[in-house]
Amino acid sequence: MEFKAVIFDLDGVICSTDKYHYIAWKQMADNLGVYFDEIINNRLRGVSRMESLEIILERYEGSLCEEKKEKLAEEKNNIYKELLKQMSEKDLTEEVKNTLDTLRAQGKKLAIGSSSKNAKFILGQLGLGDYFDAISDGTNISRSKPDPEVFIKAAEFLGLEESKCLVVEDAKAGILAAHNGGFKSAGLGEAADSELVTYPLKTFSDLLNI
Ligand code: BG6
Ligand code: MG
Repeated sequence: MEFKAVIFDLDGVICSTDKYHYIAWKQMADNLGVYFDEIINNRLRGVSRMESLEIILERYEGSLCEEKKEKLAEEKNNIYKELLKQMSEKDLTEEVKNTLDTLRAQGKKLAIGSSSKNAKFILGQLGLGDYFDAISDGTNISRSKPDPEVFIKAAEFLGLEESKCLVVEDAKAGILAAHNGGFKSAGLGEAADSELVTYPLKTFSDLLNI
């Protein structure tokens, strides 16, 4: 590949946290008495925690003050963090680990570009706590995808220009963020169908054929 570095989204790319997000949002929504299902959950992929809450509240009759919204997001995150404790090195697939190791052996810099404020905890659970050369996540950004801030910061942490870094995403919002930041991108799942994706991938290890 022509790139010097690869910046990976975390949730849905390096690992699968969808089911934990779903269970946690579902429990919060049930407690609040608001309808929530897997189809609505799909709209939350790549979206920040507070924006996800706003999407869920589209079904809520009435209005809530900011303080109550913060409480609801905290309630969801506490349930989510409890669930994340079940994650371990077993949740890192051989395919992902081997692909990362091969890219590293080729001399590529490897970074994370995730909207999640739980990214470092998740990486620790997967046994990747010290693996990446740089981590840009929900704790160092003020605007979430499709804003490119998280990827621009990752490139900055690596000390590389955008054109030298490839972004890997599973969400269309993430591909748009990469595009907005001047990055080329590789897309998995729904992101492979984005009109803006540079390299649609069938599976993670296809990265090695770019
Ligand atoms: C993204 C997920 O990676 O992180 C979203 O795709 C999630 O679903 C977002 O809402 C924020 O995550 P967290 O862990 O900070 O609530
Ligand atoms: Mg994702």
